[in-house]
Amino acid sequence: MNRRSFISLFLFGLLLKCSPALATVKHKTKSRHKTKSRLKSRQHKSKSAQWISVGTVAELDKTGQIYKEKTHLGAILVIGTSKSKKLIAVNPTCTHLGCKVDWEIADKIFLCPCHASEFTTDGKVKNGPATKPLATYKTKIERNQVMVKRN
Ligand code: FES
Repeated sequence: MNRRSFISLFLFGLLLKCSPALATVKHKTKSRHKTKSRLKSRQHKSKSAQWISVGTVAELDKTGQIYKEKTHLGAILVIGTSKSKKLIAVNPTCTHLGCKVDWEIADKIFLCPCHASEFTTDGKVKNGPATKPLATYKTKIERNQVMVKRN
């Protein structure tokens, strides 16, 4: 056996000896990745199930609405005042082609300025061309904050 063969044989043996350890490390890495993914997924679900503040009661009472374009729940438009029996909260992104709908207080509808789709206060399509409802949110006022939560 020459020197080259000896080294090759030695390295091959070493590789065989370490392969179960490598497999275990690989398995543990995969396992950790899965655990992290599950944890992230759970955190995302619990985050979207939580109440979030979109503004203060004073802001709401000033104009009768609060608009938050970017939240982890999406865009949120809250309509009403602290004196309202029930606040209305929708994602104002029109389900037709994505324009932002406006609140028409006289008709109590959400009207899309782009192609005139109309939505009721509970997000349902009243007139197309949109065919899908607006997403809606639960609302509450807590410690002077206007809170919303995914329905
Ligand atoms: Fe709203 Fe077309 S984008 S009706």
